Amino acid sequence: AVDRFARREFEMSDEPKGMRRGLAHYGDAGFSLFLRKAFIKAMGYSDSALDRPIIGITNTFSGYNACHRSVPDMIEAIKRGVMLAGGLPIEFPLVSIHEAFSHPTSMFLRNLMAMDAEEMIRAQPMDAVVLIGGCDKTVPALLMGAASADIPAILTVTGPMITGSHKGERLGACTDCRRFWGQHRAGAVDAVEIEEIGDKLAPGPGTCMVMGTASTMALLGEAMGMMLPGGAAIPAVHADRLRHCEATGERAVALAAEKLRPSQIMTRAAMTNALRVLQAVGGSTNGVVHLAAIAGRLGFDLDLEELDRLGAETPVLVDLKPSGQHYMEDLFKAGGLTAVLREIGHLIDQSCLTVTGRSVGENLAAQPAGWHNDVVRPLSDPIHRGGGIRLLGGNLAPNGAIIKQAAASPALLRHTGRAVVFTSLEDMANRLDAPDLDVRANDVLVLQNAGPKGAPGMPEAGYIPIPRKLAAAGVKDMVRISDARMSGTAFGAIVLHVSPEAAVGGPLALVRDGDLIELDVENGSIALLVEDAELEARRAIWSPPAHIRATRGYAKLYFDEVLQAEDGCDFNFLRANPR
Ligand code: FES
Ligand code: MG
Repeated sequence: AVDRFARREFEMSDEPKGMRRGLAHYGDAGFSLFLRKAFIKAMGYSDSALDRPIIGITNTFSGYNACHRSVPDMIEAIKRGVMLAGGLPIEFPLVSIHEAFSHPTSMFLRNLMAMDAEEMIRAQPMDAVVLIGGCDKTVPALLMGAASADIPAILTVTGPMITGSHKGERLGACTDCRRFWGQHRAGAVDAVEIEEIGDKLAPGPGTCMVMGTASTMALLGEAMGMMLPGGAAIPAVHADRLRHCEATGERAVALAAEKLRPSQIMTRAAMTNALRVLQAVGGSTNGVVHLAAIAGRLGFDLDLEELDRLGAETPVLVDLKPSGQHYMEDLFKAGGLTAVLREIGHLIDQSCLTVTGRSVGENLAAQPAGWHNDVVRPLSDPIHRGGGIRLLGGNLAPNGAIIKQAAASPALLRHTGRAVVFTSLEDMANRLDAPDLDVRANDVLVLQNAGPKGAPGMPEAGYIPIPRKLAAAGVKDMVRISDARMSGTAFGAIVLHVSPEAAVGGPLALVRDGDLIELDVENGSIALLVEDAELEARRAIWSPPAHIRATRGYAKLYFDEVLQAEDGCDFNFLRANPR
């Protein structure tokens, strides 16, 4: 009844709707509408079809993007839902970003996709939009764009891949990619077997099926209320995925009528819920960067100290690789995000509004009861006691850095060691495996100039490989520090997102071989144990790398505008309140 009332209101309101939305005209609005309709009629639509609420659907299919292979099937199901509810679905293409096909990095291109989403949602007439995310950067890009366009929007995702299998062992992209490649580097897996494994790591459509960035962002999108309950964890190939799409399309029509906008859903409180869930699911560190970017679009800053505080009181409950045992299809069978929210229900703000038109608490109450399982642990028996992700401060990272302590070797969480410095990705690639590299197991590996501007595009290079000679000697983890990001599928005692980055003159740029660095995760600090006077002397002779400028194209826009990690690496002019 509520929906029907809202629809009548939609029909009666004076606000331009359907084909009238965003109509540009030069004095003769009637002619402009006539022209617009004449062209869309070339698609074969009738006036009756064009008279309905129009639901745009982002088509993020690409022949380069296996994570989005199932998008055409999803669009068909979404369209069915839209039409069952009396709307007219119209799909339109957007930039599609896959992690492996995004030179120089997918992060470099995320803002391009966000701009594409924002402008095409605004440019074309639609009363609501269905966003189809999936691969790592796509959900944040779509939510950033939708937040700025701020018309009614609902998110769905392609969903995780099912697992593969090798010699009876389950395999998943790309935690097991790294694990087996590590074994291959150490000589334990030969060239033939690593090829065999490569055939099985990504056995179908959908996103990486561990708690990587794609899984994390899908769960955070649901936690923020932008997705129908249960949508994040459904495997890409499961029939439930299509039923969820149908329901999403149906709900989009009601959202158009209710005029419920992303800015009403992704509030500061909803973002706090998302940070809480990020900690509880042991999510990817990239989630912090993307949430900061989305918050910036909506006019507030993500409170990283809050992340730390929430972390201290929110145990990691989800036992998924890379820090645990299971895969996303197991989380799906265990109840998905609902099972997590049930455990931490008393810690989240249940009054937040969601795309269902109801609150988080009401959605939760409408879900079937939970059951005991070993994928989503009860609060009384977590997989890790609090603080999956910790914020670090200290003289090496004045504007912050983070570490995923749940994925680090406990013995390294408090460690002082000698710095072994690589000045760039290229320098690291050239020297890391050299037999004469002066490196010992208790040293601290430091990578400079791999941040937002430095690399550029803040690549997932923070997972610095263990130097070959140490790997061969059995060393599994070392303290590693950089201004880069890390794949959510990686693990280790790895300090990331050091800000300001080296390329803009952050203290990270001043570290030299042999300096002592102290990591103290419990006290939240990363310190360079060098006298201030010495650091000042080094700063006086420092100059920025020459490559962090471009004269034309998107790269120019990127270098001129990109912000640091704590601002989500968004472009300054895209924020609601530019710095
Ligand atoms: Fe697309 Fe992992 S490569 S989700
Ligand atoms: Mg990834």
